Amino acid sequence: MKLEGVSKVMRIAIVGMGHIGRRHFEMINGIEFFQLVAICDVDEERIMQWRGVNQYNDISVMLSAEDVDIVVIATPHHLHFEQTMMCLQRRVHVIVEKPMALKTDEARKMIEYSRQCECKLWVVKQNRFNTPVFALDHLIKSGKLGKIYFIEAHVLWNRNDKYYTASSWRGKLKEEGGALYTHASHFIDLMVEWGGEVVAANGFCTRRQQMIETEDLGSANLVFSSGALGSVQWTTLAHQKNFEGSIAVVGEKGTVKIGGPYLNQFDHWSVEGYPLPGINWGEDVQDEFNLYQDFGGNHIKVYYAILHELISGKKLSVDGMDGIKSIAAIEKIYSNIQTIA
Ligand SMILES: NC(=O)c1ccc[n+]([C@@H]2O[C@H](COP(=O)([O-])OP(=O)(O)OC[C@H]3O[C@@H](n4cnc5c(N)ncnc54)[C@H](O)[C@@H]3O)[C@@H](O)[C@H]2O)c1
Repeated sequence: MKLEGVSKVMRIAIVGMGHIGRRHFEMINGIEFFQLVAICDVDEERIMQWRGVNQYNDISVMLSAEDVDIVVIATPHHLHFEQTMMCLQRRVHVIVEKPMALKTDEARKMIEYSRQCECKLWVVKQNRFNTPVFALDHLIKSGKLGKIYFIEAHVLWNRNDKYYTASSWRGKLKEEGGALYTHASHFIDLMVEWGGEVVAANGFCTRRQQMIETEDLGSANLVFSSGALGSVQWTTLAHQKNFEGSIAVVGEKGTVKIGGPYLNQFDHWSVEGYPLPGINWGEDVQDEFNLYQDFGGNHIKVYYAILHELISGKKLSVDGMDGIKSIAAIEKIYSNIQTIA
């Protein structure tokens, strides 16, 4: 399936019309080049409220009945692998929500199969498009920060009982996999992008909220393939609301910290020869859902990046090869940290 120079409207379907599927629905409907033709969810109540699109409760029925170019997978984590493979079998491009899979093996098969089928496999990592993140990425990759010594992430968030009861897969070991896959995955994605593969890890994690199976509190020290050290602290136990979501990078020629409520502002900037440009860094949109604060706002930029790639053939978007790196890092962390009572 050739993509370069595509000029037709791309027909899209969404699988999983929960919290984030609804966000995709709004985004797709806002872009002329895309046409949303179908939605699918096993929970029929969740799809009945949407008008103007065909509705299904079974992905295989939908794939047989619909002529679609792209399917968005916005279901619980443990389904991403199987559902992506089903779409690729039909030679349909896939946009899969993070994490692309729960295992590196699965992610690798998804990438290989997408190549065999000549289909695109994009992974949703909308925080890469936050203006300060984009700027720091450029700073690091252009060498302006010099050698990277240390990368530190703090994900100190609040998720209450209602958040877990609203969707039965959340907090489950087999379905969700753990808080690193859900809450810290955007941060880990950036850490490995800037530091390289995680080659060693140690630390601790534990669970304090009784209704879930996964950990809700953890701390890990990391060594990256570039030689940089790192540290990630994560919890969903912050009192009443999100406290901090930040990432700091200490380099040879500067120290930069991105924070704000959703990685949308510079908390610190000290870079040799490069003063912080005086522009509005906080333009990225935050979503306030009724259960918790989230990062959903920049999904629109994911679609713009995909659109750019479809038209020009130039990659701005995040693909499977990018997505697999954070899965490998998360696997490495979980297999090396100690779970305490
Ligand atoms: N990019 C982000 O910042 C971001 C934010 C939130 C969630 N997410 C990701 O989006 C995905 C979904 O999360 P959510 O919070 O929307 O969950 P959710 O529970 O609100 O929605 C999941 C939906 O999938 C449906 N579903 C379950 N099994 C299905 C099946 N076999 N076929 C079709 N539909 C099925 C459920 O009925 C539900 O409506 C997860 O991968 C999550 O990590 C990403």
